[in-house]
Order: sequence, then structure tokens, then C-alpha cells
Amino acid sequence: MCSRSALLSVYYPQIFLILTSGSYLALSSVVALGANIICNKIPGLAPRQRALCQSRPDAIIVIGEGAQLGINECQYQFRYGRWNCSALGERTVFGQELRVGSKEAAFTYAITAAGVAHAVTTACSQGNLNQCGCDREKHGYHTQEEGWKWGGCSADIKYGVEFSRRFVDAREIRKNARRLMNLHNNEAGRKILEERTKLECKCHGVSGSCTTRTCWITLPKFREIGYMLKERYSEAVQVEPVRASRLRQPSFLRLKDSRGYQKPTDTDLVYLERSPNYCEEDRATGSTGTRGRLCNGTSTQTVGCNVMCCGRGYNTHHYTRVWQCNCKFHWCCFVKCNTCSETSELFTCK
Ligand SMILES: *[C@@H]1O[C@H](CO)[C@@H](O)[C@H](O)[C@H]1NC(C)=O
Ligand SMILES: *[C@@H]1O[C@H](CO)[C@@H](O)[C@H](O)[C@H]1NC(C)=O
Repeated sequence: MCSRSALLSVYYPQIFLILTSGSYLALSSVVALGANIICNKIPGLAPRQRALCQSRPDAIIVIGEGAQLGINECQYQFRYGRWNCSALGERTVFGQELRVGSKEAAFTYAITAAGVAHAVTTACSQGNLNQCGCDREKHGYHTQEEGWKWGGCSADIKYGVEFSRRFVDAREIRKNARRLMNLHNNEAGRKILEERTKLECKCHGVSGSCTTRTCWITLPKFREIGYMLKERYSEAVQVEPVRASRLRQPSFLRLKDSRGYQKPTDTDLVYLERSPNYCEEDRATGSTGTRGRLCNGTSTQTVGCNVMCCGRGYNTHHYTRVWQCNCKFHWCCFVKCNTCSETSELFTCK
């Protein structure tokens, strides 16, 4: 009990920031809080997520970290985009939710599902979660012929993926096309993570002679997953729901305008609706607009002010940096420097 409440008090401000980023609770009152209260305070949890939170308070901390990992990576990948991974709208464990079933929404679902799986798997390997650890199936000889043994700690990616499925997918409670889209993208994110796990090996024997070798499974750096998903984002496919004839509910997704019932592949990111241009603030689409965003006055790329500011123009800010330079040592004993300065410009969208 002591270690759990200590753990929660250490992490609680952080989760609380991730989950609500606004209201704030004093640390001293946090120590006294139990899982029940914490789970009830987290906004935007679906009923099954709240139940999981209550039964596994140790895991909710890791889930918060995983969601943050996903959000941070999303912000990094889209730092030069008109859409910078921010949204207006409903606040959930995974940040603000985009209302439109766009490519951008697809990306956020895939990266948070992957983030949670990554964080949970890492926590298992480090012994930070109660019910998991290293992958126990990976022991003994891999195969006799290949001549290496499992050793060290193999990441239990299956556990992380399954946990992400249980928690992240539980927020899809409506029976509509968007649910199918979200579930597909969650699965795509986890699948891409799973496919990027690697085998790492170490040689043993006299002076590195490699008479025996031990190997284990490692997780990829999350940045790598960010780049992979960004690529999938740029090739995302538009889909439409197919309703089974008797049931009114959409039962699966097919590629839009495809002949027959061609389905997207497992690792495709899928979207239902075209993206807004993200130029103006708009509650209906969740767009925050680009007012006040930094842009590059000399670039013609997407960072460029013309594109970023959507033709509204930009403000120029001058700033001067001053520092000591050309320092010389004089005998004996002092140092004489010049003062150098440089004036730079920054541009922000009007
Ligand atoms: C994204 O852009 C909006 C609108 O300019 C801004 O308020 C927000 O702070 C930005 N977010 C990040 C992570 O840069
Ligand atoms: C602006 O873009 C140009 C050309 O793409 C690049 O060389 C320069 O470093 C950029 N400046 C900033 C401040 O990002």
C-alpha cells in the first residue's frame, strides 16, 4: 500500500496534467487519494476504461505515459504542419479529440494506440507492472540448428499490444462508421510497432570468439514508429462503411470508390472524411487555426509563411542576441573579449 500510494503521488501530477491540463490538485492532497478517486477524476474515460483503471491503478500511470509519448511524437512529426496535432473539442485521456474522421484523426489514433503498447511493454521489461515482465516464452534454444539461445529480457510485445487493445479500444462505444475507422487505425498503429521489434544478440566466449550467442527481442525507438506512421499518414486511404443488409450498423470498411469490396490492408491508415484546411479556428472541425504560429519567411515549403498563414500575412519580430566573443588571454592575467551581436527575425502568422 505504501509503495502504491507513493507511486501515485509521484506520478499523479503528471497524469493529471496529461489528462486535464488545466485544473490542478495540490500534491499533499494527492497522497491520500486512492485509485477510486483518481479514476473518477480522470475526464473522458469510457465505462470499461474506468473499470480497468480501478482494477489496475498501476497500469493507468503507464497508460498516461504512453498517451503522452504518442502526443509528443505527433507534435514532433507535425511541427511544421498547419495542423500541429492540437485540436479543439472533447478532452480525453489521449488529449483533445478531432471531430472529423480525417487523416489527422487517423494518425492520432494510431500513434496513441502504439504509444500505450510501447509504454506498457517497456514497463513490463523494467518490472514496473505487477502482472507482466520479460517474454517468458523466449527461453532455451531458439532452434538447435541456428545455435543461439534466448537470453536477457525479451520485450513482451504481445502483452503490451493486448493491453493497448483492452484499454484504448474500449473508448469506442458508439456503433458507427467512425468506430470502425478508429479501431482499424488503433490496430494499424500497434501492428506497425509489432513489426518493428528487433532481435538483438550478444556473443559469449573467450575474447569474443562467439562460441555461444544469446539473443533477445527489443522494442524500436518510438521516434522510428513516428516516422513510419507519418509515412502511412501520407498514403492514408479513404474508406466507406458497408452495412450488412439486415443490420443497420456498419459492419466493415471498404476502399472508397473501389469496385467490389476491396478492404484496406492491416497497416493502412484509413479515413472517412476529407481534412479541413486547418487555416481558421473552427470548433466544428476541431481546427485551432494557424494564427500566432511560427513560420519560415524564406522557405517555400509547408513551413513557409505563405502556406502556413493561408495568405493572411505575417508579423515580423526582430530580436538581438548578444554574446562575448573573440576572447584573448593577456599576460598576466586577464581575458579580454569583444561583444558580438546578431539580429534575427522571427515570423508569426497574422
Ligand atoms: C499548435 O497551434 C495552436 C494554434 O496556433 C497553438 O495554440 C498551440 O500551442 C500549438 N501547439 C503546439 C504543440 O505547438
Ligand atoms: C527556413 O527555410 C530555409 C529553406 O528551407 C532554411 O534554410 C532555413 O534554415 C529555415 N529557417 C528557419 C528559421 O527554420
